[in-house]
Formats: sequence, structure tokens, C-alpha cells
Amino acid sequence: MKIPRIKEVISQQEIATRIKQLGAQISHDYVDKQLVVLAILNGAFIFAADLVRVIHLPLEIDFIRLASYGDESKTFGKVKLTKDVELPLAGKDVLIVEDIVDSGHTINFLLDFLEKRQPNSVQVCALIDKRERRTIEVPVHYAGFELHAGFLIGYGLDFAEKHRNYPNIYSLLEAEEVKCEKQ
Ligand code: IMP
Ligand code: MG
Repeated sequence: MKIPRIKEVISQQEIATRIKQLGAQISHDYVDKQLVVLAILNGAFIFAADLVRVIHLPLEIDFIRLASYGDESKTFGKVKLTKDVELPLAGKDVLIVEDIVDSGHTINFLLDFLEKRQPNSVQVCALIDKRERRTIEVPVHYAGFELHAGFLIGYGLDFAEKHRNYPNIYSLLEAEEVKCEKQ
């Protein structure tokens, strides 16, 4: 049986500390703006929930769902919208909240898509800015952490839809062949 091996790379305390700093920065930058936090499902649901609680400004929150990955840890470069935004965005200051910016395809698609809704401004806040496989240059205005290589799980991040519930962030290592013996 193959069991994936994992290694903790960011603890829940480190995540909380960094999110507080992002919240303070965003609270400062969005004074007197009409902030709409637009979180990308599913990966950003935990990050967005923690982030909005440390932004000390009036804001609206909505969700969009985009899919670009199948069951594999590699990108297909194609993005599909599976749940639209419901709030009107015309004249609003939209802050996209994403789990990881990887190739850049998802953010690139979303920036194009949102343009038609005529927002006043659109910026991107990503928990993790992963530059290893970036194929399209996209702006990441706020980044929690930078990652150079690897595949992460936990704190909303999945591998084949699993592991989102872990409180820390782990790196997924090569699966290891293990002999499973009955106790
Ligand atoms: P992009 O379109 O290639 O930038 O991919 C962005 C999406 O891929 C993110 O929203 C994540 O859901 C997913 N993704 C990229 N890297 C990872 C990772 O290391 N762990 C989990 N999901 C990832
Ligand atoms: Mg995602």
C-alpha cells in the first residue's frame, strides 16, 4: 500500500501571525474604499474566514468557484467557472482571496472575467505565492508566504480533495511503499 509522507512547513501559529499582518496592511490600504472580499472556492475558504476577521473595515464577502485541477497534483492550464459571484461589483474595490497562485492561469482567467463587471479596482491576496511553475505573469499584491517548489496540503489546500482540514500546512513528499500488516 502507498502512504503519502508529509512534512510540516508552516505551523498554525505562523499562519495566524502572518494573516494578522496581512489584515493590518489591507485595513490600512482599503480605508474609504468599497471593499468586496472575493474568495475562490474551495481552497481559500479557511484563509478567507481567518483573513476577514482581522480586517477592521466594513466589507462585503462573496465566493466564486473555479476549477483548474483534476485529481492530480499538476495543472492542466484550463480554468472553468463553476460558481459565479452573486454581489454586484460595479464601482467596488475587489480583493481576490486565493489559496495558492501557481501557474497563474486561474488568476489570469479571473481578472479577465471580472473586468466585465466593471469594478473600481481589483487586487490579489494569496496565502501562498508559488513561483516554480508560473507561466503567466499575474499581479500578487499581498502574499502570505512564498514557496519555491513543492506541493502543499492542509489549511484549505487539498490533494485529490483530501487533507483540507489540517490546521498546519504540510509539504507532500513522495508516496512511500509500505507493507500493511494486520494488528
Ligand atoms: P494556477 O491556476 O496554476 O495558478 O493554480 C492555482 C490553483 O491550483 C490553486 O487555486 C490551487 O487550488 C491549486 N494548487 C496549486 N498548487 C497547489 C499546491 O501545492 N497544493 C494544493 N493546491 C495547489
Ligand atoms: Mg484553488
